[in-house]
Amino acid sequence: MKYTGFGLCLISLILSVLIGLTLARGKPSHSQSADRSLLIGFSMDTLKEARWQKDRDYFVARAQALGAQVKVNAANSDDSVQLRDIQSFISDRVDVLVIVPHDGKAMSKAVQLAHAAGIPVIAYDRLITDCDLDLYTTFDNVRVGEVQAQYLVDKMGGSGRILRIYGAPTDNNAKLYKLGQDHVLNPLIEKGLITVVHEDWAENWEPQKAKQIVNAAITNHGHAFDGILASNDGTASGAIQALKEEGLAGKKWVTGQDAELAACQSIVEGTQTMTIYKPIRALAEGAAELAFQMGSRQVIIARDSLQNGFKEVPAVYFPVIAVDAQNLRETVVQDGFHTAQQVYGTEGP
Ligand code: GAL
Repeated sequence: MKYTGFGLCLISLILSVLIGLTLARGKPSHSQSADRSLLIGFSMDTLKEARWQKDRDYFVARAQALGAQVKVNAANSDDSVQLRDIQSFISDRVDVLVIVPHDGKAMSKAVQLAHAAGIPVIAYDRLITDCDLDLYTTFDNVRVGEVQAQYLVDKMGGSGRILRIYGAPTDNNAKLYKLGQDHVLNPLIEKGLITVVHEDWAENWEPQKAKQIVNAAITNHGHAFDGILASNDGTASGAIQALKEEGLAGKKWVTGQDAELAACQSIVEGTQTMTIYKPIRALAEGAAELAFQMGSRQVIIARDSLQNGFKEVPAVYFPVIAVDAQNLRETVVQDGFHTAQQVYGTEGP
């Protein structure tokens, strides 16, 4: 269990008041005066994948229910746009910043600027590296990779030949997914049970890039592989497109992540094998609550932490669930993430 950096700052603040010092980041927020409600700046990389629209909507609704106002911007995978968005939130004197970085390293600059203005920062879903980040709230990303890889290995009966598609090299999550996958695969690769036929990274998580990776694998190695370990549903969709062109769709196992509607439909159709369901609502509402507490300068207790290259960042993790045709209904549909009508085209089986 850890107090967040900002929590520690708060404790330091109390001490500093006692000894007559001021703190860069611990000064009482203007929000705490009666003139306006707490203001949260939510800077998002992208709204390309449908999940991010859910993240935004649940986050804003929960924050508003708590009495806060939220400003949201999405940067369309452009670091300079994201930095400008954050600078404008700082000029608007937000009480706390919540950031989904496009490039986890590039956004360390945003954390420095925010801190210089006395504003604490929470990284949402994706880590911001090499800086004095206050809090990281996310799904258990290493676990996502482990579950994807274990699922594929089990489907193949413990051995086989695979293609691997990693996510955006600028996204720390893509590295964590790979790390989790490696935990499962490396011992099997060493024993000669698993062969990685081809592997590559899909810039910006682009489905088109994933399709090219599978095209290249097939051109160089033919059809002799059993499954594709795709790191999310977007890259899985590109991979499935490449398989379709070769008449292989439905004949190779394909993993994914996000339980996007199109992916759930592909699971029903049999062209995608599984996805990872991340209950976005829990993360988004949890993050809104944490942002509210941090913005109103309350102490936050985080049970986990993650090294970001500068420090152990206090972290709050949310669990994930593997979903395939067998449990789609009891998970995604039952939760109201998608309706049965959307997933099955009818009320379903
Ligand atoms: C990751 C995120 C995934 C997926 C991907 C593409 O950081 O954890 O859920 O959406 O980005 O946006």
